Amino acid sequence: MSEITDLRSYIEVLRDEGQLAEVAAPVSMKHELADVAASLARNDTGAGLFTNVTDSPWPIFCGSVTSHRRAALALGCEVSEVIEVMERVLDPTNGVAPLMVDDAPWKQNSITGDDIDTAALPIPIHSRGDGGSFITGAVTVAKDPIGGRGNLGYNRMLRLSPTRFGFNVNEWRDVGTFWKSREDPDAPFPIALAIGLDPAIMIAAGVKTPVDELLIAGAIRGKGIEVCQGLTVDVAIPAAAEIVVEGLLHPTEREMEGPLAEFHGYHGEAWNSPTFEVTAISWRDNPIYQTIIPGWYEHIYLGNVLPREPLLRRFVRHLDASADVHIPPYGNGFLAIIQIDRDNPGTPKNLAMAALAAHINIRNVIVIDRDVDMYEAAEIQWALTNRVHWQDDVFTVPHAQGHEMDPTADMRGVSTKVGIDATYKRERREYGTRVQYPPIDLSSYLRP
Ligand SMILES: Cc1cc2nc3c(=O)[nH]c(=O)nc-3n(C[C@H](O)[C@H](O)[C@H](O)COP(=O)(O)O)c2cc1C
Repeated sequence: MSEITDLRSYIEVLRDEGQLAEVAAPVSMKHELADVAASLARNDTGAGLFTNVTDSPWPIFCGSVTSHRRAALALGCEVSEVIEVMERVLDPTNGVAPLMVDDAPWKQNSITGDDIDTAALPIPIHSRGDGGSFITGAVTVAKDPIGGRGNLGYNRMLRLSPTRFGFNVNEWRDVGTFWKSREDPDAPFPIALAIGLDPAIMIAAGVKTPVDELLIAGAIRGKGIEVCQGLTVDVAIPAAAEIVVEGLLHPTEREMEGPLAEFHGYHGEAWNSPTFEVTAISWRDNPIYQTIIPGWYEHIYLGNVLPREPLLRRFVRHLDASADVHIPPYGNGFLAIIQIDRDNPGTPKNLAMAALAAHINIRNVIVIDRDVDMYEAAEIQWALTNRVHWQDDVFTVPHAQGHEMDPTADMRGVSTKVGIDATYKRERREYGTRVQYPPIDLSSYLRP
């Protein structure tokens, strides 16, 4: 597999591995692109490269990481090693510092001053419930004004005018901590948005950590990520980005932005958010715009699956050193699957208890055997249907603390957690072995 250094080299890897869906048919940025991309993710067809977007001068890429198969390609490992790699790169002692370079391809084209017009950016309207054109696939790059360290994160941004966006930021995000730590917390705060990136940077930006997430991206690639100084802001921006938007956050100049499809699968509410004033838009020649379909697989993969599976596995392996875990994207981060070689009849419930305590978001835990594919939703459904005695194999924990946006919880996040032992209870009744047909590559059987 060739080396991944930027979005373009990743697209080549996806193409070589049959994980790229190139959409040459004309597609509109209003809903249609997101509809097609959501289907590509749902069917695990491949990442979408839309080359004929009717209302965009540039191609649009999405679905960088929407399955473990694609996460493995992005991380340069086997599917079974994804958690291993994530565990290693999340350990701050393995971080690799970014490298400052003098120039970057995104400096090839630039607009500043009176020429700035956010209409230059092909920003789709994704879901039908969304409140406008939202940038969803940009990584926000900021710098700690006191310690000087960098930070990556995601912030949805609603286009408000030719020069302004509404900038969504939760209370406890590092970028907010940064601007509040200054002598004048209300003063404009410089940031940059990097769009069209090596998936290592996309994965790192989804991690909540008190160090610069570029160290994680460097650990994934085994070398420092190249960064370059902004044209108008003092921020070190990934040099291999396709497009860069620089500007100033105005903490007190607020406007309503929203709603947008949320990670839990409903539309969130509108927020009264700080605004972002654009000071430069830059792009490399023939750039590729990148977007994330909100409230869908990639959103959940980057925020809830990849950064959390290592911790979940640690909790569960404390009880069973060979157990495997998965947080499936269709469970929105609220569901965890534990896969074991079943031995003692009570162990699955103990493992479920450990998993429920591993992360506040985890509310439902299903424990399965090795003969059930933990990455396939239909397989989990089969185990629930055929291996669960609903009176004996389930326990509930009422009034447990969960995430405050959990749709089953009250306004403070209190809900009922549940553990389900969906393993085969041979001691209850003997059914022999399960019917299995090995997966087949159908391309050699079907006519193209
Ligand atoms: C696709 C995606 C979109 C997100 N959108 C937002 C957002 O609009 N506002 C926000 O405050 N956090 C959002 N988040 C969460 C943070 O960006 C993320 O948790 C990040 O790790 C914050 O880390 P930091 O506090 O270290 O910067 C999003 C996360 C993902 C994966």
